[in-house]
Amino acid sequence: MTQRIQIIPSLLAADITRLSDQIAILEGQGAQMLHIDVMDGRFVPNITMGPFIVSAVRRITRLRLDVHLMIVEPERYVQAFADAGADVLSVHYEASPHLHRTLQLIYQAGVKVGVAINPHTPAESLRDVMPMLDVVNVMTVNPGFGGQSFIPTMLPKIARLLAMANDVKRTVNIEVDGGITGETARAAVEAGANWLVAGTAIFSHPRGIAGGFQAIRDGIENDL
Ligand code: DX5
Ligand code: ZN
Repeated sequence: MTQRIQIIPSLLAADITRLSDQIAILEGQGAQMLHIDVMDGRFVPNITMGPFIVSAVRRITRLRLDVHLMIVEPERYVQAFADAGADVLSVHYEASPHLHRTLQLIYQAGVKVGVAINPHTPAESLRDVMPMLDVVNVMTVNPGFGGQSFIPTMLPKIARLLAMANDVKRTVNIEVDGGITGETARAAVEAGANWLVAGTAIFSHPRGIAGGFQAIRDGIENDL
Protein backbone atom coordinates (compact mmCIF):
# COMPACT_ATOMS: atom_id res chain seq x y z
CA MET A 1 0.00 0.00 0.00
CA THR A 2 1.57 3.25 -1.11
CA GLN A 3 1.38 6.19 1.20
CA ARG A 4 1.55 9.87 0.49
CA ILE A 5 5.04 11.41 0.57
CA GLN A 6 5.52 14.09 3.22
CA ILE A 7 8.53 16.35 3.72
CA ILE A 8 8.61 17.02 7.46
CA PRO A 9 10.82 19.87 8.71
CA SER A 10 12.59 19.18 12.01
CA LEU A 11 12.43 22.14 14.37
CA LEU A 12 15.71 21.04 15.96
CA ALA A 13 17.45 23.02 13.20
CA ALA A 14 15.09 26.02 13.33
CA ASP A 15 15.98 29.43 14.74
CA ILE A 16 13.96 29.15 17.93
CA THR A 17 13.83 32.96 18.30
CA ARG A 18 12.01 33.22 14.96
CA LEU A 19 9.92 30.09 15.16
CA SER A 20 6.57 31.51 14.09
CA ASP A 21 8.07 33.27 11.03
CA GLN A 22 9.90 30.11 10.02
CA ILE A 23 6.82 27.94 10.43
CA ALA A 24 4.80 30.42 8.36
CA ILE A 25 7.33 30.04 5.51
CA LEU A 26 7.00 26.26 5.68
CA GLU A 27 3.21 26.50 5.64
CA GLY A 28 3.58 28.61 2.51
CA GLN A 29 5.68 25.86 0.93
CA GLY A 30 2.94 23.31 1.53
CA ALA A 31 4.40 21.50 4.55
CA GLN A 32 1.72 19.56 6.38
CA MET A 33 3.67 18.33 9.38
CA LEU A 34 6.47 19.45 11.70
CA HIS A 35 8.89 17.13 13.51
CA ILE A 36 9.76 17.89 17.14
CA ASP A 37 12.77 16.14 18.69
CA VAL A 38 12.49 15.55 22.42
CA MET A 39 15.83 14.62 24.04
CA ASP A 40 16.43 14.00 27.73
CA GLY A 41 20.21 13.92 28.18
CA ARG A 42 19.93 10.25 29.16
CA PHE A 43 18.74 8.17 26.21
CA VAL A 44 20.75 10.56 24.06
CA PRO A 45 23.45 13.01 25.21
CA ASN A 46 21.58 16.15 24.18
CA ILE A 47 18.68 17.97 25.91
CA THR A 48 16.09 19.78 23.78
CA MET A 49 12.36 20.35 23.98
CA GLY A 50 9.50 19.14 26.18
CA PRO A 51 5.70 19.39 26.32
CA PHE A 52 5.96 23.12 27.05
CA ILE A 53 7.44 23.73 23.58
CA VAL A 54 5.01 21.35 21.89
CA SER A 55 2.07 23.26 23.34
CA ALA A 56 3.62 26.59 22.27
CA VAL A 57 4.06 25.33 18.70
CA ARG A 58 0.50 23.95 18.81
CA ARG A 59 -0.76 27.49 19.45
CA ILE A 60 0.99 29.03 16.42
CA THR A 61 0.23 26.47 13.69
CA ARG A 62 -2.38 24.01 12.49
CA LEU A 63 0.27 21.72 10.97
CA ARG A 64 0.32 18.19 12.39
CA LEU A 65 2.98 17.70 15.04
CA ASP A 66 5.15 14.58 14.78
CA VAL A 67 6.83 14.21 18.16
CA HIS A 68 9.93 11.99 18.39
CA LEU A 69 10.67 10.97 21.98
CA MET A 70 14.37 10.22 22.48
CA ILE A 71 13.89 9.71 26.21
CA VAL A 72 14.06 6.91 28.75
CA GLU A 73 10.76 5.73 30.25
CA PRO A 74 8.72 7.38 27.48
CA GLU A 75 5.50 5.85 28.88
CA ARG A 76 5.65 8.38 31.72
CA TYR A 77 5.21 11.28 29.31
CA VAL A 78 2.73 9.98 26.72
CA GLN A 79 -0.26 11.75 28.24
CA ALA A 80 1.64 15.04 28.71
CA PHE A 81 2.65 15.14 25.03
CA ALA A 82 -0.85 14.13 23.91
CA ASP A 83 -2.30 16.95 26.03
CA ALA A 84 0.29 19.37 24.62
CA GLY A 85 -1.04 18.72 21.11
CA ALA A 86 1.07 15.97 19.54
CA ASP A 87 -0.63 14.28 16.58
CA VAL A 88 1.96 11.50 16.25
CA LEU A 89 4.09 10.13 19.11
CA SER A 90 7.09 7.90 18.42
CA VAL A 91 8.95 6.17 21.22
CA HIS A 92 12.26 4.37 20.84
CA TYR A 93 12.26 0.59 20.70
CA GLU A 94 15.57 0.64 22.61
CA ALA A 95 14.06 2.69 25.48
CA SER A 96 10.93 0.57 25.86
CA PRO A 97 11.17 -2.80 27.64
CA HIS A 98 7.33 -2.92 27.63
CA LEU A 99 6.86 -1.54 24.15
CA HIS A 100 3.49 -3.22 23.54
CA ARG A 101 2.00 -1.60 26.64
CA THR A 102 3.47 1.81 25.74
CA LEU A 103 1.99 1.61 22.24
CA GLN A 104 -1.41 0.81 23.77
CA LEU A 105 -1.06 3.92 25.93
CA ILE A 106 -0.33 6.10 22.90
CA TYR A 107 -3.34 4.66 21.06
CA GLN A 108 -5.59 5.23 24.07
CA ALA A 109 -4.39 8.85 24.25
CA GLY A 110 -5.88 9.33 20.77
CA VAL A 111 -2.55 9.95 19.04
CA LYS A 112 -1.02 8.18 16.01
CA VAL A 113 1.29 5.42 17.14
CA GLY A 114 4.97 5.38 16.19
CA VAL A 115 8.17 3.52 17.01
CA ALA A 116 11.67 4.75 16.20
CA ILE A 117 14.57 2.34 15.76
CA ASN A 118 18.27 3.09 16.06
CA PRO A 119 20.62 2.14 13.23
CA HIS A 120 21.68 -1.10 14.98
CA THR A 121 18.13 -2.36 15.56
CA PRO A 122 16.89 -4.81 12.94
CA ALA A 123 13.54 -4.37 11.18
CA GLU A 124 12.48 -7.78 12.48
CA SER A 125 12.36 -6.41 16.06
CA LEU A 126 9.06 -4.74 15.14
CA ARG A 127 7.34 -7.73 13.52
CA ASP A 128 5.07 -8.52 16.46
CA VAL A 129 3.93 -4.93 17.03
CA MET A 130 3.50 -4.01 13.35
CA PRO A 131 -0.32 -4.39 13.53
CA MET A 132 -0.36 -1.59 16.14
CA LEU A 133 1.72 0.96 14.23
CA ASP A 134 0.90 4.01 12.14
CA VAL A 135 4.55 5.07 11.72
CA VAL A 136 7.99 3.48 11.91
CA ASN A 137 10.83 5.98 12.22
CA VAL A 138 13.96 4.43 10.72
CA MET A 139 16.80 6.44 12.23
CA THR A 140 19.27 7.09 9.43
CA VAL A 141 21.79 8.62 11.87
CA ASN A 142 22.49 7.84 15.51
CA PRO A 143 19.94 9.95 17.42
CA GLY A 144 21.00 12.95 19.46
CA PHE A 145 22.13 15.67 17.06
CA GLY A 146 21.20 17.34 13.81
CA GLY A 147 23.62 17.76 10.94
CA GLN A 148 24.98 14.20 10.76
CA SER A 149 25.48 12.11 7.62
CA PHE A 150 22.89 9.66 6.33
CA ILE A 151 23.85 6.00 6.89
CA PRO A 152 23.19 4.30 3.53
CA THR A 153 23.07 0.77 4.96
CA MET A 154 19.68 1.72 6.42
CA LEU A 155 18.08 1.56 2.95
CA PRO A 156 17.44 -2.22 2.91
CA LYS A 157 15.85 -1.91 6.35
CA ILE A 158 13.28 0.51 4.91
CA ALA A 159 12.29 -2.03 2.29
CA ARG A 160 12.04 -4.82 4.88
CA LEU A 161 9.77 -2.74 7.10
CA LEU A 162 7.49 -1.89 4.21
CA ALA A 163 7.24 -5.58 3.31
CA MET A 164 6.43 -6.42 6.95
CA ALA A 165 3.65 -3.80 6.98
CA ASN A 166 2.23 -5.25 3.77
CA ASP A 167 2.39 -8.75 5.28
CA VAL A 168 -0.07 -7.67 7.97
CA LYS A 169 -2.09 -5.66 5.42
CA ARG A 170 -1.49 -2.47 7.30
CA THR A 171 -0.79 1.00 5.98
CA VAL A 172 2.25 2.10 7.95
CA ASN A 173 4.18 5.25 7.16
CA ILE A 174 7.90 4.59 6.87
CA GLU A 175 9.73 7.65 8.14
CA VAL A 176 13.43 8.40 7.71
CA ASP A 177 15.16 10.75 10.11
CA GLY A 178 18.71 12.07 9.90
CA GLY A 179 20.92 13.31 7.10
CA ILE A 180 18.05 13.79 4.66
CA THR A 181 18.90 15.93 1.61
CA GLY A 182 17.44 15.96 -1.89
CA GLU A 183 19.72 13.09 -2.81
CA THR A 184 19.24 10.87 0.25
CA ALA A 185 15.50 11.60 0.23
CA ARG A 186 15.32 10.17 -3.26
CA ALA A 187 17.18 7.00 -2.23
CA ALA A 188 14.92 6.61 0.81
CA VAL A 189 11.75 7.04 -1.25
CA GLU A 190 13.01 4.50 -3.78
CA ALA A 191 13.55 2.06 -0.90
CA GLY A 192 9.96 2.61 0.31
CA ALA A 193 10.02 5.53 2.75
CA ASN A 194 7.25 8.13 2.53
CA TRP A 195 7.84 10.44 5.52
CA LEU A 196 11.06 12.41 5.12
CA VAL A 197 12.28 14.36 8.15
CA ALA A 198 14.83 17.07 7.39
CA GLY A 199 16.40 19.66 9.67
CA THR A 200 19.72 21.05 8.48
CA ALA A 201 18.93 20.60 4.78
CA ILE A 202 15.88 22.86 5.15
CA PHE A 203 16.84 25.41 7.82
CA SER A 204 20.49 25.91 6.79
CA HIS A 205 20.00 25.93 3.04
CA PRO A 206 21.86 28.72 1.21
CA ARG A 207 18.60 29.76 -0.49
CA GLY A 208 16.73 29.94 2.81
CA ILE A 209 14.03 27.77 4.28
CA ALA A 210 11.78 27.87 1.23
CA GLY A 211 14.77 26.94 -0.94
CA GLY A 212 15.67 24.07 1.36
CA PHE A 213 12.16 22.66 1.34
CA GLN A 214 12.05 22.95 -2.46
CA ALA A 215 15.47 21.26 -2.84
CA ILE A 216 14.12 18.13 -1.14
CA ARG A 217 10.98 18.25 -3.24
CA ASP A 218 13.20 18.52 -6.35
CA GLY A 219 15.24 15.53 -5.17
CA ILE A 220 12.19 13.28 -5.10
CA GLU A 221 10.34 14.99 -7.95
CA ASN A 222 10.15 11.95 -10.15
CA ASP A 223 8.69 9.92 -7.31
CA LEU A 224 5.91 12.36 -6.38
C1 DX5 B 1 18.32 13.39 15.36
C2 DX5 B 1 16.89 13.84 15.19
C3 DX5 B 1 16.54 14.37 13.85
C4 DX5 B 1 17.29 15.61 13.46
C5 DX5 B 1 17.64 15.46 12.01
O1 DX5 B 1 18.46 12.74 16.58
O2 DX5 B 1 16.00 12.77 15.45
O3 DX5 B 1 15.14 14.60 13.73
O4 DX5 B 1 16.57 16.80 13.63
O5 DX5 B 1 18.48 16.50 11.66
P1 DX5 B 1 19.23 16.57 10.25
O6 DX5 B 1 18.17 16.61 9.19
O7 DX5 B 1 20.01 17.82 10.37
O8 DX5 B 1 20.08 15.32 10.15
ZN1 ZN C 1 13.82 13.09 15.02
